[in-house]
Amino acid sequence: GFSWKLADHPKLPKGKTIAMVVLDGWGEAKPDQYNCIHIAQTPTMDSLKEGAPEKWRLVRAHGTAVGLPTEDDMGNSEVGHNALGAGRIFAQGAKLVDLALASGKIYDGEGFNYIKESFKTGTLHLIGLLSDGGVHSRLDQVQLLLKGSAERGAKRIRVHILTDGRDVLDGSSVGFVETLENDLADLRAKGIDAQIASGGGRMYVTMDRYENDWEVVKRGWDAQVLGEAPHKFKSAVEAVKKLRQEPKANDQYLPPFVIVDDNGKPVGPIVDGDAVVTFNFRADRMVMIAKSLEYEDFDKFDRVRVPKIRYAGMLQYDGELKLPSRYLVSPPEIERTSGEYLVYNGVRTFACSETVKFGHVTFFWNGNRSGYFNPEMEEYVEIPSDSGITFNVNPKMKALEIAVKARDAILSGKFDQVRVNLPNGDMVGHTGDIEATIVACKAADEAVKMILDAVEQVGGIYVVTADHGNAEDMVKRNKSGQPQLDKNGNIQILTSHTLEPVPIAIGGPGLAPGVRFRSDVPAGGLANVAATVMNLHGFEAPGDYEPTLIEVVD
Ligand code: 3PG
Ligand code: CO
Repeated sequence: GFSWKLADHPKLPKGKTIAMVVLDGWGEAKPDQYNCIHIAQTPTMDSLKEGAPEKWRLVRAHGTAVGLPTEDDMGNSEVGHNALGAGRIFAQGAKLVDLALASGKIYDGEGFNYIKESFKTGTLHLIGLLSDGGVHSRLDQVQLLLKGSAERGAKRIRVHILTDGRDVLDGSSVGFVETLENDLADLRAKGIDAQIASGGGRMYVTMDRYENDWEVVKRGWDAQVLGEAPHKFKSAVEAVKKLRQEPKANDQYLPPFVIVDDNGKPVGPIVDGDAVVTFNFRADRMVMIAKSLEYEDFDKFDRVRVPKIRYAGMLQYDGELKLPSRYLVSPPEIERTSGEYLVYNGVRTFACSETVKFGHVTFFWNGNRSGYFNPEMEEYVEIPSDSGITFNVNPKMKALEIAVKARDAILSGKFDQVRVNLPNGDMVGHTGDIEATIVACKAADEAVKMILDAVEQVGGIYVVTADHGNAEDMVKRNKSGQPQLDKNGNIQILTSHTLEPVPIAIGGPGLAPGVRFRSDVPAGGLANVAATVMNLHGFEAPGDYEPTLIEVVD
């Protein structure tokens, strides 16, 4: 039968303190002026690289190596941390939704049948991120869902869009809205009353995460549900174009707007009897809106009016909370994660990050599961993130505070694994501010130094890696790798993640002599890290985990 007990590693001892450091958005790319990691002073990460190939190597962090549909899919934190923690590759939300749409199974499921009940008399509202980024959602999936819903009886459809500019180029929102408008016009030609009803930039409207700032969700609620927003337009294309003209405006932070009819009345507030689908497949930035749409008891902001709706998520966003209770596609079942195994095998675990990435080293790491496996064995610490500013304003973020917590946890002797996420490269990289991203990379490197010093003091081991690329390439490139220029001859800043591999380094005084990276897993990816870490804790990994990256030579 099944057992949580892990076999002893034949050669490696138990009881070493391991620091598991994940630099968010820290890939490996050619050195040039748009590679902020290269430009920044990063002496600690540079010195780790000198350990190649035995103590430093690259691992794959994008595409099929992390369960995404294609090799053109850049990595992201959800799938990256899932792979790091779970030690296996699971088909992820993007892929599962593709399959369900292609087979039509999405329309046979409980979730769709539930919302369909409202089609006769109510409106179908679709809320989500409008882009082809493939991190949280994909435009082509929305297009299919619109068509499929119309074919199955939806007569009145309202789309509430969130503009991207974070997983895709800034400014691309206009094109996505135009594409959607064309599809809606096609539906109208078929007699379906279909329109965009509201919108706003993803970082300012709706898509907050880990309860960093409920105001963001409230702004969305006001526009989507109440039909109230500071800006009113007749058309969404006009809205996005106009709002982008404001100084410093960008897709990520567009203010909320509603679309109004000729009488100035909002075209699509959500009312009793309507159906609502949040079409993002990724969980972190949908949990808060899902709570506000689903929970009867709710005190995070004044909802003013709570319509009686049939609500479904594209996926279930939190399996523990069963949130939302209805969903169109079942999420990946990521079970038997390394965190759970290690806790069962006596490994006391500390995990820490600041708010914006806290769920990454806990929830995503543990297979999209909130809370502790065993509170006696684990401690998770969240350091409040700055809120109300964009992260280029304070690019050091809470790197130092996270490092101090990690250092103290290491020195306390109370933990066997001290796991952190350092968000700087990613969060500041997403702003597209190159100067700030350079500062961010330096801050992350200094944090690594503090953690490695603590490892040194206790005779421990470190594993330093990253979840996907971002800060190592800040410019959109053409096929030959040269910066791509826009029609005015300016370079196009890349705010998104990349397709690059990420480094992984091992070391520390506790690393047994003879431990080195194997040379026979050249295509190794993030999913190979869990077995590696289990070995360093003195255990063999379960048989179905992706192979370890290390070997022990005598
Ligand atoms: C975000 O949600 O901030 C971006 O879409 C993806 O970033 P992350 O995968 O690094 O969280
Ligand atoms: Co990111």
